[in-house]
Amino acid sequence: MPSAPKGQLAMQTVAIERDANPGGSMFGGWVLAQMDMAGAAHAFGIAQQRIVTVSADKIRFFRPLIIGQEVHLYTDTVSIGSSSIAVNVNVWHVEQNAGNKQFFNIAEGIFTFVALDDKGRPDKTMKDRIE
Ligand SMILES: CC(C)(COP(=O)(O)OP(=O)(O)OC[C@H]1O[C@@H](n2cnc3c(N)ncnc32)[C@H](O)[C@@H]1OP(=O)(O)O)[C@@H](O)C(=O)NCCC(=O)NCCS
Repeated sequence: MPSAPKGQLAMQTVAIERDANPGGSMFGGWVLAQMDMAGAAHAFGIAQQRIVTVSADKIRFFRPLIIGQEVHLYTDTVSIGSSSIAVNVNVWHVEQNAGNKQFFNIAEGIFTFVALDDKGRPDKTMKDRIE
């Protein structure tokens, strides 16, 4: 488990009651959805064209996320293939107190996105275009 965020801050949100279980912590599916969106924002920034999620791997939930907690999602590029971009996504709960920030790692995973051409097929020219 990493001890501090690395990569870029792709998204910030707050855990709200609607997406929590009766025990007051967030459903894993809600966390996964935020991770998918943060990863997609990262991959879109690279590809600059339509992308879709092809896989979510090595997902790990380290600790529960509680209603009301502030959530930051950090991303960094793992690898770039002909049409695919693999993005590491790390979810942090952030506590801010008088300018001091404390980060608690909630979850991590690797999300892979595929750039599509105008026919909806993998665009194998993506890597060449972005270089
Ligand atoms: C993503 C999709 C376009 C891939 O089509 P495909 O014909 O299987 O394409 P390919 O086999 O050429 O794979 C495309 C790229 O994805 C990569 N890929 C495929 N399966 C993968 C997996 N399980 N994990 C990581 N990468 C994977 C391939 O390595 C390839 O990368 P490269 O071009 O950089 O070498 C197609 O499966 C699809 O439309 N899936 C639904 C996507 C979607 O709607 N997602 C939202 C959630 S439902």
